[in-house]
Amino acid sequence: MTAWTPQSWREKPISQVPQYPDVARLASVEAQLAKFPPLVFAGEARELKAQLADVARGEAFLLQGGDCAESFAEHGADHIRDFFRVFLQMAIVLTHGASKPVVKVGRIAGQFAKPRSADTETVGEMTLPSYRGDIVNDIAFTAEARVPDPERLLLAYRQSAATLNLLRAFASGGYANLARVHEWTMGFMKESTAYPRFEALAHKIDDAITFMGALGLTPENTPALRQTHFYTSHEALLLGYEEALTRRDSITNDWYATSGHMLWIGDRTRQPDAAHVEYFSGIRNPIGIKCGPSLSGEELLRLLDRLNPQDEPGRITLIGRFGADKIADYLPRLIETVQRAGRTVVWCSDPMHGNTIKASTGFKTRPFDRVLSEVRSFFQVHREMGTYAGGIHIEMTGDDVTECVGGGVAAITEAALQDRYHTYCDPRLNASQSLELAFLVAEEIRAQRPARSARAAV
Ligand code: PEP
Ligand code: CO
Repeated sequence: MTAWTPQSWREKPISQVPQYPDVARLASVEAQLAKFPPLVFAGEARELKAQLADVARGEAFLLQGGDCAESFAEHGADHIRDFFRVFLQMAIVLTHGASKPVVKVGRIAGQFAKPRSADTETVGEMTLPSYRGDIVNDIAFTAEARVPDPERLLLAYRQSAATLNLLRAFASGGYANLARVHEWTMGFMKESTAYPRFEALAHKIDDAITFMGALGLTPENTPALRQTHFYTSHEALLLGYEEALTRRDSITNDWYATSGHMLWIGDRTRQPDAAHVEYFSGIRNPIGIKCGPSLSGEELLRLLDRLNPQDEPGRITLIGRFGADKIADYLPRLIETVQRAGRTVVWCSDPMHGNTIKASTGFKTRPFDRVLSEVRSFFQVHREMGTYAGGIHIEMTGDDVTECVGGGVAAITEAALQDRYHTYCDPRLNASQSLELAFLVAEEIRAQRPARSARAAV
């Protein structure tokens, strides 16, 4: 076995790789990226890993979410702000429900490359290479648009830097101030079934802030009340980009991916002996592994041996994405395997990717009921097995889109999907659906923590 380096993945079989016609230009773009500043720091990735270790111990909850695919066209301050606002609303609902810290990780500032089930897409008589995310090619259905273009790596890097800059400002510069919890509410949210519950919660938080203020703890003198930690994550699919941003930490001398705090391996690229797993085995960031129905227990153990030989807590988050009708069959087996092997993981549920269907109108959609059903089963399985349901991973946006059917008072119908169907890849929960989901998760977390009276009795 040869030693790991940021480029050792190049010696391994690889899937989901774009065919660039201009490989010389690709190499020069990658060389340029390798000189650019890191987007995140190793110390921040370590801090997130420590917080995920708390989740693994059952002492915190992970909220991970954002666009399926970020796009160059949707890049803008309002899009980022609206996402961040709904994300904070969800986080506050969960913090209140769980009475535990919520670890906040966006699918953002780097979530550009997409794995595809098919290499080509056919419309009418025409067959073209599939769209692979804005970092690779263009979504327009023309032969020219679908050619992989190396310049896109530079655009994705710059967009990620600008997005992260705004997120850092929001997280630490006052936007996340709990005294502003009422301001996070948006016009159209008033239509949502979750709105009255959120308003009621916002009042409770106001009361708590007023009470703490009377004791002398104010957002001005207590950083935890006026700022939050927000981390970034994406699927590390385009390994040339990741390699260029892999840097040695000057403090520990270890290698870290600096394209985002946490990276995950997709369900289509998690073969233990292939290129993606090779890359992940050498970086020290916290990492996620998407676990679909085709993942066997044996394969999972090989992955854990390969990716976390020391069983470091917080290193591995298993993101199950089975489908509402499959989770009860598949998740318990993986839990048993992990328990028998005595391994430490964060158990997280992605209730989106196993619940995608094609609507009669032709749109790819996800019934909100199935999303909720997978989340409920996730908690139920963990309750039954005595393990800790540690987090959720969702595709969501702060925009008022119509991409997933159901949810809310004005439930989105199949016919309404065409109204505001903007996603560049998979259908996302809109702001109202996201908040509704957060209230359900809060109830489930409350149901899994030992009742106060039970605890008091011991
Ligand atoms: C995704 O998260 O957008 C994705 C493609 O997921 P998976 O690898 O689980 O299919
Ligand atoms: Co997706």
